[in-house]
Amino acid sequence: MLLSDGMVAYAEPLAVMHAACFERSWSVSDFQSLLGLPTTIGWITDTSFLVCSHVLDEMEILTIGVLPFARHRGIASSLLSQLFIYAAARNVHRIFLEVAVNNTPALSLYQKAGFRQTGCRRGYYQMSGKTVDALCLTKDIPSDP
Ligand SMILES: CC(C)(COP(=O)(O)OP(=O)(O)OC[C@H]1O[C@@H](n2cnc3c(N)ncnc32)[C@H](O)[C@@H]1OP(=O)(O)O)[C@@H](O)C(=O)NCCC(=O)NCCS
Repeated sequence: MLLSDGMVAYAEPLAVMHAACFERSWSVSDFQSLLGLPTTIGWITDTSFLVCSHVLDEMEILTIGVLPFARHRGIASSLLSQLFIYAAARNVHRIFLEVAVNNTPALSLYQKAGFRQTGCRRGYYQMSGKTVDALCLTKDIPSDP
């Protein structure tokens, strides 16, 4: 389901799912603030979520997650496909994101979806008391004919 008007109502289920997916989770109020911005766009299902920022011809993936029991069934790939359709229809030319260098499932997901590495931020994440580098990934989106 595409989150558009009234998105703030989804802050709570998003925070619950986010906590199940990430070591450093975002609170309900984090999501309320994010969803209140006119630049935020997102998708949510019973088992997954994708939240992005959309400014002019660029989008950034802010967070994506699939509940552990539902993983490896193509759900995240399907969310990304919906994002690419949305982006192409709105003249978005580039989608970018940051991902921890040790997040093998996510790196594989993004590689399969056509993202390429465009940079690296040293020590970007704090995970279990250690700093972890982030890879910057980008995908160019061809415009709809
Ligand atoms: C990363 C994540 C969103 C993938 O969701 P998913 O629904 O399981 O992904 P899909 O089933 O669509 O898998 C697509 C591809 O991703 C890769 N992938 C998914 N899970 C993987 C795993 N456990 N190990 C290695 N590769 C994996 C595979 O290349 C897979 O393609 P394949 O099925 O042909 O092998 C999910 O593991 C997750 O929520 N992780 C925790 C949150 C997170 O790290 N988000 C990304 C932050 S940048």
